[in-house]
Amino acid sequence: MLGNLEGFNRTHNCGKLSIENENDNVTIMGWVQKRRDHGGVIFIDVRDRSGFVQVVFNPDLNQEAFKKAEELRSEFVVAIKGSVRKRPSGNINDELPTGRIEIEGNELRILDKAETTPFLINNEVNPGEDLRLKYRYLDLRRPMMRDMMELRHKTVKTTRDFLDNKDFWEIETPLLTKSTPEGARDYLVPSRINPGQFYALPQSPQLFKQLLMISGMERYFQIAKCFRDEDLRANRQPEFTQIDIEMSFVTREDIFELTENLLRKIFALNDIEVPQEVPVMTYQEAIDQYGLDKPDLRFDMKLKNISDIVQDSEFNIFSGTVKKGGQVKGIKVKNGTNFSRSQIDELEDFVKLYGAKGLAWIKFENGEINSPIAKFLSDEELEKIIEKMEAQSGDLMLFVADKPKVVANSLGHLRVKLGKELDLIDKDDYKFTWIVDFPMFEYNEEEERYVAKHHPFTSPLPEDIDKLDNDLENLKANSYDIVLNGEELGGGSIRINNKKLQHRVFDAMNFTEDEIQNKFGFLMDAFEYGTPPHGGIALGLDRIIMILGNTDSIRNVIAFPKTQKATSPLTDAPSAVEQKQLEELHINLINLD
Ligand code: AMO
Ligand code: AMP
Repeated sequence: MLGNLEGFNRTHNCGKLSIENENDNVTIMGWVQKRRDHGGVIFIDVRDRSGFVQVVFNPDLNQEAFKKAEELRSEFVVAIKGSVRKRPSGNINDELPTGRIEIEGNELRILDKAETTPFLINNEVNPGEDLRLKYRYLDLRRPMMRDMMELRHKTVKTTRDFLDNKDFWEIETPLLTKSTPEGARDYLVPSRINPGQFYALPQSPQLFKQLLMISGMERYFQIAKCFRDEDLRANRQPEFTQIDIEMSFVTREDIFELTENLLRKIFALNDIEVPQEVPVMTYQEAIDQYGLDKPDLRFDMKLKNISDIVQDSEFNIFSGTVKKGGQVKGIKVKNGTNFSRSQIDELEDFVKLYGAKGLAWIKFENGEINSPIAKFLSDEELEKIIEKMEAQSGDLMLFVADKPKVVANSLGHLRVKLGKELDLIDKDDYKFTWIVDFPMFEYNEEEERYVAKHHPFTSPLPEDIDKLDNDLENLKANSYDIVLNGEELGGGSIRINNKKLQHRVFDAMNFTEDEIQNKFGFLMDAFEYGTPPHGGIALGLDRIIMILGNTDSIRNVIAFPKTQKATSPLTDAPSAVEQKQLEELHINLINLD
């Protein structure tokens, strides 16, 4: 009879039963969470996707079912018939949704047996991530992971409903395609039919969504899989999902409004409010005040510029840096004078990861200065620094002198680290902001040319277009990111819709005519046939769910994610393939060591 459902007809989900079902005869199916034997009575918790319910087998009431229940082990799959009854008052568990009732079991069928699992299926046990990923199907049985999958489903469903309601069409775009320039490395797929040629998996549907605007689709969206071969972090996967959106005949403000309303619906799933007015900050303001273009606005600790004050000081590291066109900036740790030397050394090591050469510090307490660099600074300079930093007794100030980029990046990351470690962040606070007016280009030292900061289809700000000829450094783009609590949720732009301008942008990036033709010829051609003004955005679905689900690993919100090394312990991908397969693809592996 093992595995056979004959005679059993599921009537209820375990977690949905309540006192309302008292005296009902029910049939449930699910997994044995655990079995407890108590004074001649067997209790089991049965789990299905909806939750748990307790079942009691009493030999005095049903000898046969009781005998069978003695065989049960964790994770056996069972079908049970019984009747719902109120728990005796001493056994009520108000923590559990089904904690006021239990099922008196009178028929039990074992549908499948189970080996002892490599870890217990509950939230309390936290097996290592390798084990979790190897046995992901078991990990997903844990309530916490089940909740994440439900949240993911609801987020996608909310998104589809919202956009459908706003007249968007969901259109799929190809996965076997040509490189899309989002700045990461491509995943390549060899073509058997065209020896020596490769498809690229899309880093995003960018070019196709623009083509769809040229096709007159007007309002497109897609829950789109994107592939980027880049260094992985807690918030990055090689294969991730975007809520990808593109619209014709719109301004930036239309896209902001749509995005805010969509996020409002999504975040409402967990009662998180998106403010009626999401603040807008320029890229430059974000960098100046927070050091990063994805500022965490839940705490203050802004960067302050003391370059003017120290430009002529005796401390050469400061004055020399300013003279060379660099900056000296600092952040203030409130009541930080109790930081020990070794703690400050650790912070110095941290900023060095971001290219800083050191971390100068000043402690200010009871009108006294304690600092290794104080002897190089005049009283007046020290006073002005304290004033600029708005330091009060008990505060620690930390400074970096370097090129503006290094100063911003190192202090920006230090600020975030301190905010977390010093518990300055209210976990129930959700601070959204738009970042706008990004630089169009950034100089790539390695390639010795300018590359697009967002992507090269982004339109320059209209008033900046002339800078394409002579001032790439200061040319701003009509692009935007939406940031929440220090995390970039999404980004987009108003696009170029004119072949000439697109060409000028490629020229500025030193693309040759051949490269343009090869890489983007099809888009350039399409621009010839009537291109509407258009723009869009892509939101990182996984990141949204991470924040909604209050987890700090992107791997917790994806059913079958990859490790930090882009592998799958479950399937063992990537893996070697047979020689014959390689031959069919005309591929010869070479050893480069
Ligand atoms: P962008 O490259 O900024 O824009 O990507 C949009 C959003 O996708 C998310 N994201 C990631 N999430 C997880 N793992 C990754 N490796 C990863 N990379 C990006 C982020 C990011 O904000 N085509 C443009 C959008 C447009 O212009 O419309 C694009 O892809 O949340
Ligand atoms: P040094 O003279 O190199 O021992 O540095 C004296 C102090 O200045 C140390 O606390 C260093 O961490 C700090 N320092 C060195 N270089 C920099 C820099 N570029 N920015 C800020 N502080 C620095």
